[in-house]
Amino acid sequence: MKKLATLTLIALIATPLSAKVTPAKRGLAFAKTHCAACHGISANSSSPNPEAPPWDDIANRPGTTRETLRVFLRDSHNYPDAMQFTVKRRNIGDLAAYMITLQRKGYHPGI
Ligand code: HEC
Repeated sequence: MKKLATLTLIALIATPLSAKVTPAKRGLAFAKTHCAACHGISANSSSPNPEAPPWDDIANRPGTTRETLRVFLRDSHNYPDAMQFTVKRRNIGDLAAYMITLQRKGYHPGI
């Protein structure tokens, strides 16, 4: 019995460490369900909607930071006509955290 309790305790301690959910991971999960219908959301992907820039293009535009992405997403009045929705505040930080992971030194946009 004591051994079982010890094992349970180890499992409880070990699990959160191995499956740590970061803001970027939450952002990717949110993007898969809310943004991927139009945007290429991973590195070197093309967008299903040709009007929508792939996110690595957006992330690698000169001057783009996590903060500029956050500011853009916070104000849905900025959104292009195709994006008829708002994003909840708690998802915005996650999305910006994810999008900024797509920045690469020497990035060249695809065709
Ligand atoms: C229905 C299609 C559609 C969906 C869904 C969509 N987008 Fe877009 N998005 C577009 C289009 C089209 C553009 C480009 C418009 C333009 O350049 O005029 C765009 C542009 C953008 C831009 C760049 C704006 C700029 O500065 O030029 C960002 C950032 C963005 N989308 C984020 C998101 C996020 C985050 C989501 C999910 C929450 C999302 N989009 C979902 C169609 C979509």
